[in-house]
Amino acid sequence: MNGRIDSHPILAPARGGMVDFFWKGKKLRAREGEVISSALFAAGEKIFGSHKKDGSAMGIFCANGQCSQCLVVADGLPVKACVTAVRPDMHIMPCEGVPAAPSEEWARTNAGHEFQMVPVIRTQVAIIGGGPAGLKAASQLAGMGIRSVLIDDKPRLGGKLVLQTHTFFGSVEDCFAGTRGIDIAVKLENEVLSQPEITVMTSTQAVAVFSDRRIGVVKNGSYVLVEPDAILIASGAREKALSFKGCELPGVYGAGAFQTLVNRDLVRASSKVFIVGGGNVGLIAGYHAMQAGMHVVALIEALPKVSGYKVHKDKLVRLGAPVLLSHTILSANPDAAGTGVGSVTIAKVDASFKTVPGSERVVACDTVLVAAGLSPCDELYRQAEAFGIKVFRAGDAEEIAEASAAMFSGGIAAAKIANALGIKVEIPAVFQKKMNILKSRPGNISARPAGGCSGVEVYPVIHCFEEIPCNPCVTACNKGLIILRGSSGTLMDLPYFVPGDGKGTCSGCLRCSVFCPGLAISIVDKRKAPPGRAFVFIPFELVPDFSVGSHVPLLDAEGVFIEEGEVVDIVDRKWQDKTLMIKVLASANAADRAIGIKYQRDAEDIRVPVRPEAVPGDHGENIVCRCEKVTDREIRAMVREGFTDMNSLKAIRCMMGSCGGKTCTPLIKRIFAEEGVPSDKITDPVRRPLEAEVPLGVFANPRIEEEPDYEARV
Ligand code: SF4
Ligand code: SF4
Ligand code: FES
Ligand code: FES
Repeated sequence: MNGRIDSHPILAPARGGMVDFFWKGKKLRAREGEVISSALFAAGEKIFGSHKKDGSAMGIFCANGQCSQCLVVADGLPVKACVTAVRPDMHIMPCEGVPAAPSEEWARTNAGHEFQMVPVIRTQVAIIGGGPAGLKAASQLAGMGIRSVLIDDKPRLGGKLVLQTHTFFGSVEDCFAGTRGIDIAVKLENEVLSQPEITVMTSTQAVAVFSDRRIGVVKNGSYVLVEPDAILIASGAREKALSFKGCELPGVYGAGAFQTLVNRDLVRASSKVFIVGGGNVGLIAGYHAMQAGMHVVALIEALPKVSGYKVHKDKLVRLGAPVLLSHTILSANPDAAGTGVGSVTIAKVDASFKTVPGSERVVACDTVLVAAGLSPCDELYRQAEAFGIKVFRAGDAEEIAEASAAMFSGGIAAAKIANALGIKVEIPAVFQKKMNILKSRPGNISARPAGGCSGVEVYPVIHCFEEIPCNPCVTACNKGLIILRGSSGTLMDLPYFVPGDGKGTCSGCLRCSVFCPGLAISIVDKRKAPPGRAFVFIPFELVPDFSVGSHVPLLDAEGVFIEEGEVVDIVDRKWQDKTLMIKVLASANAADRAIGIKYQRDAEDIRVPVRPEAVPGDHGENIVCRCEKVTDREIRAMVREGFTDMNSLKAIRCMMGSCGGKTCTPLIKRIFAEEGVPSDKITDPVRRPLEAEVPLGVFANPRIEEEPDYEARV
């Protein structure tokens, strides 16, 4: 099967050659440098092995090296499929239960037999994490003449920015607002690569910080120590898991994992996607799924309002994807083979998040994306802090926020580090203020009407009603016809079209609409339109399934059908950077309201409850620790017995699996909270290095063929 995305509205088709590899003895093809999990998904293989405890099917969950659910045996060694690149002619087998130790024969032919001293790289600052915060910090430090080593576990820099096809919010002057995440990543990466003060180590895993201030890193199977004067942890965040029946089925995975498969590796991960969680990550993942040609069955959120930006939610609903508020997932139900997802059972919840009896319904899907929030990857920070090392953190490792805020926090951290190293640098108060604004949660939703504009024939209609930190529409209009107005006097104020205030009148140049990250501005043009009718330009970032002359369903910002309009042009100029402007002829009234073209036109109405007998029966328990298959019931029983030291729970093996407790610890803390145990009464589990699995032989440092791309002394 071809599980690859060949046509995408934003991303260029993948380039580069293909290599052969073998899966269970069968020859398959992978792109050069592609990770095993993506190559297998592209070939339609989503089951990577079986669980050691009950033999159940295993697959990916995080696609980010964090959860250890994706083990396979590659050329005789167990590896994480999501972070291990396919090598030509690699022989890959599923990991059935506990992987066997490599054979003597394997050791004779494959293991290194010549060893070397561990090299040490001296530097002023070690930066762990090459996302927006780490990149910004490295550049700022270089600007002050401070040398740094930038360490990232991925083959390229940019962090999560490389997954973001949408344009960014924030301010144009401070953080590239209005530019796509993938393009911001390139800009920041180029800035870093051009500075001689920065040594970049990609595909490098930082595994521990030691009391002698050294950081152990593994690169290309070699062990290296980095010895800095100060450390910056900018290692981002990992996705939180959720516990519900069937949550461990392959086919249930993190929304970020999905974006990795779809936007980084251009793999068609599924065809019917169901999303749990209405934060920005879940909302954006739904949009990315539609861009990649997948069907978004629904997105549910337990709260009565999405916690992400309303403009993100509006983008989904006006393409025809249902967003159900005050709903929860009861179970992911197995498909006919019992190894993947076939449907989900959902239900309404009341104000205290209790399921409303009789509201259950079953929705068919093949993938469940969990977007339950993020938790900081800050283990190395805590390790360094405990040793009294000069350590700082920035970006999501410090506080979960948008990438725009992460860039600011990287800059601020760089200034703090410079001061700690004895280089006096002022941190302007305005920096902190701007960062706080960029970190702001969405504010009030205004009831003001979006549009209509008397006395002028061409005007923008701004369907942006919620206070968010954003201003590209203002910057885009060089006539000054859009301003932010509100009580805060900051980026959080709402945008208004002010035809009397600017330099001239609206020319219908489309710029405000094209550069709006929320795709929340339409342009109405009544010139040359028949009486009572108007042209409306609607921004569109999907592969159109219509052409000039088609009649398309027009939707308002809430996804409500208005009327059919006729497509009269599809404007696609180079400066629009792939945001199409669809020119539609409609009634004048509809033109003032329309901001969406329904894309998912054949969506089944999931609002109709199913017959109760169609609800699948109970199929197991809620798993909390997926590595060791420990259930919610088992953990709750211990909590009710009075255990408050999380280390005691290791007796039933939770937090003892190969992810080192990274996935289940937040869920266990939640159980304590649900059982009424205050957080200050709980003893945290003891964490011990290493922070990532490393084959033991690496520490013997076998000599490898490849020349290191960094300078070190031994
Ligand atoms: S269409 Fe052009 S001139 Fe009119 S408000 Fe938007 S940016 Fe300004
Ligand atoms: S209308 Fe303006 S403030 Fe609202 S999302 Fe678009 S660019 Fe941002
Ligand atoms: S899916 Fe590979 S480590 Fe999580
Ligand atoms: S989920 Fe990995 S140890 Fe519990």
